[in-house]
Amino acid sequence: MSTATLPEVLSESARSFAAGPHRLLIGGERSDAADGRTFDTVDPSTGRTIAAVAYAGTEDVDRAVRAAREAFDDGRWSGIAAAARTRAMLALADALEARADELAELESLDNGKPVKLAKRVDVHLAVEHLRYFAGWPTKITGATLPVAQPSMHCYTRKEPVGVCGQIIPWNFPLLMAAWKIAPALAAGCTVVLKPAEQTPLTALRLGELALEAGLPEGVLNVITGDGETGAALVDHPDVDKIAFTGSTAVGREIGAKAGRALKRVTLELGGKSPNIILPDADLDVAVKGAYQAIYYNTGQACNAGSRLFVQRDQYDDVVGALVEAAGKARIGPGLDPSTQMGPLISAEQEERVLGYIESGKSEGAELVTGGSAREGDGWFVEPTLFSATRDDLTIAREEIFGPVLVALPYDSIEEVARRANDTEYGLAAGVWTRDLSKAHKLAALLRAGDVWVNTWSAGDPSAPFGGFKASGVGREHGREGLDAYLENKTVWVNLG
Ligand code: NAI
Ligand code: MG
Repeated sequence: MSTATLPEVLSESARSFAAGPHRLLIGGERSDAADGRTFDTVDPSTGRTIAAVAYAGTEDVDRAVRAAREAFDDGRWSGIAAAARTRAMLALADALEARADELAELESLDNGKPVKLAKRVDVHLAVEHLRYFAGWPTKITGATLPVAQPSMHCYTRKEPVGVCGQIIPWNFPLLMAAWKIAPALAAGCTVVLKPAEQTPLTALRLGELALEAGLPEGVLNVITGDGETGAALVDHPDVDKIAFTGSTAVGREIGAKAGRALKRVTLELGGKSPNIILPDADLDVAVKGAYQAIYYNTGQACNAGSRLFVQRDQYDDVVGALVEAAGKARIGPGLDPSTQMGPLISAEQEERVLGYIESGKSEGAELVTGGSAREGDGWFVEPTLFSATRDDLTIAREEIFGPVLVALPYDSIEEVARRANDTEYGLAAGVWTRDLSKAHKLAALLRAGDVWVNTWSAGDPSAPFGGFKASGVGREHGREGLDAYLENKTVWVNLG
């Protein structure tokens, strides 16, 4: 693969990694796929191929799971001092931080997101997640239980679940990898990580850096491939737990398979999150928040604020302010430092998003701004805003995963709470108000895993994240996120 097609602006280190070769990382060794297959990863800002990447088939998946099993069973990770796990995880966090520029460039190249944001958000938060969970190994404790029989000594142990198959999407590739591996490693599990086929580069780099940082071989295995690779990982009988972030359709299938096999499973899926501006809100702040809530990451976020409810009296002002802001968006290639909004991830995603825009028009929503794809290379779609009065439009019900907002007027708080909850999803919700009692009242009424008041997408490694209803099963982050990687064992000792 020639590196001639890689953008000029790439630093030497990012360029040399991006150029490849990109092999599977199994048991501490890099290898090609057993059958030699590869797939191309593409730069969505140009549509050009970046490099060929090894495509893991079932044989490779099996080899990776066996490597993770061996590393789990011989205790090279779960059996070492908890403080040694902490040190290795902190060393990995330091290694990512030291290469923040390179990783941000790789992410921007592979995913299209603005390089500045890739560094400030994706790489920074990946480091923070590893550091937060690095603190846990020395604090994982069971309890001594005051059982009724005085002759019994009864206690609990928290033990790692075992071999974890972790499947992640393309919208925040490195960050999703960190969200997944950090609690698993803290718990003492071993991992087979499968990044999305659109964005394999930073996960492969993460795997290399983990080895350099001192994670024992086989503890973190990285296999690249598509949905078939992911399905083979889910189906592998020796995987104890599956963690998945991605589409609700695939999540349902994985949940069903995990149920049949009685594997542990956590699912972080889609959303159609309501964002509610109350009449007393600081409108400037609310408009900026609503704008970021939908257009950040080109709308490719599970927690995008994609339904905007505005009280009828403020409705025209808010819609007007959003149109003005959208008109100023600097859309361009991720690696251009002045870009605010990058491309969509793929031609397929562009087609999907444009299909939703067509459905919005044909079902009678008013297209207020945007609505078109840019001519030329790359998959750029304008920030798009629809105004609608009906909640049953396709664009008001289905996850679009693109820069498309639907604004809807409402009259009363009770009405808006009911309409906000009238969705199969329940990932997040937002409220903009200066009235404390209304804020807390709505926070209690909204059926969503996160409720943000006068902010959007606030998050922290210590704060549980995940969805109600079809938005997922289980929580990531914090103690809850760690628990998803721990089994409880109750030990009874008859003292006689
Ligand atoms: P997807 O759910 O197909 O892909 C996500 C990950 O799952 C990728 O690593 C993929 O290779 C893997 N995968 C696909 N099929 C699988 C299977 N049967 N078994 C195991 N793993 C499998 O999502 P896709 O096709 O990339 O995007 C489609 C839509 O999904 C988007 O338009 C968006 O609505 C939603 N999505 C939601 C995300 C979220 O963060 N909640 C992230 C990505 C997509
Ligand atoms: Mg790519």
